[in-house]
Amino acid sequence: MKLLLTGVSGLLGINFAQEMMDQHEIIGADRGKLRNAPFKVLKHDLLEPDAVESLLDKAQPEALVNCAALADLEACEDDLSLAKRLNTDLPRRLARACKSRGIPFVHISTDAVFDGQKDGFYSEEDPPSPPGAYSKTKLDGEWAVLTENPKAIVARVNFYGWSLGGKRSLAEFFYNNLTNNKSMSGFTDVIFCPMLVNDTARTLVKMLQRGLKGLYHLVGPQAMSKYQFGVEIARRFSLRESEITPKSVNFSGLIAKRSNNLWLSTRKLSTDLGEDLPAFSTGLDEFYTQYEQGYPQKIRGYQQL
Ligand SMILES: NC(=O)c1ccc[n+]([C@@H]2O[C@H](COP(=O)([O-])OP(=O)(O)OC[C@H]3O[C@@H](n4cnc5c(N)ncnc54)[C@H](OP(=O)(O)O)[C@@H]3O)[C@@H](O)[C@H]2O)c1
Repeated sequence: MKLLLTGVSGLLGINFAQEMMDQHEIIGADRGKLRNAPFKVLKHDLLEPDAVESLLDKAQPEALVNCAALADLEACEDDLSLAKRLNTDLPRRLARACKSRGIPFVHISTDAVFDGQKDGFYSEEDPPSPPGAYSKTKLDGEWAVLTENPKAIVARVNFYGWSLGGKRSLAEFFYNNLTNNKSMSGFTDVIFCPMLVNDTARTLVKMLQRGLKGLYHLVGPQAMSKYQFGVEIARRFSLRESEITPKSVNFSGLIAKRSNNLWLSTRKLSTDLGEDLPAFSTGLDEFYTQYEQGYPQKIRGYQQL
């Protein structure tokens, strides 16, 4: 399949491309960060007028996965207009263009559309209640995509992995601090369902291949606190878990409001795929194997310095 990935320099985009480039023809769209990538890269600022049509004309993809976003919660609070343009208006334009060209479209959304006040196990039927600028603009993006293009896949995700800049994911935060013997906090009252980003990519491709459409939760099948996640990273890398201090998010000093319980049910997706989603432990083992095999250095070598 000829797959076009927008936001290919991001955490999901780069790992998706790396994961799939041996089995599929990957074309990535970036804003100029990538130089040595082993797949085709087209340079586009997707907020420029006509960028979407021009990208599709050049790439002629058989499917498009939209990984581009303003995914930094604090940046969304600081610049709501940019957050709307990237998280709501761009997905709408991509969904519309893909529909008119008959190109299957996957849009990536977030678990954070829920405010986390319920006891968790949110299903796709639960009403979303986004707590901040990021989650509000992402939720509007979901509605925009499914209104324009009901055959699109909208996947609410949460993932971790190795990133181009080495700091994008929560796993890297814990790994970087632990290896530098720096103390850090882990929130005990923020629950989420982390999935290795390579598992996210593999599952998204299966969803495309099986012709799924509509809204899905695509997160890890195991819920845990961010503190517990840090401890799991420390244990897998044989680092000192005692460097991680359990803390409440209420004392974090972060401005953008976080949801407390983002335990999402993935029953709909596993039923429609006819298989269980990848377990947390196998993802963590793969994350560690990637580290042993120099995967982080390999993907970082793709960027323009
Ligand atoms: N990380 C998570 O755990 C998580 C959790 C829930 C949902 N998500 C969702 O998953 C998706 C991917 O997230 P991520 O963590 O991979 O995000 P990321 O690392 O911040 O990557 C965002 C990507 O969007 C690109 N982009 C931004 N503005 C652009 C523009 N004007 N034109 C073209 N490209 C532009 C960025 O390019 P530059 O590199 O040039 O800035 C980058 O490649 C997002 O939809 C996010 O909301 C992520």
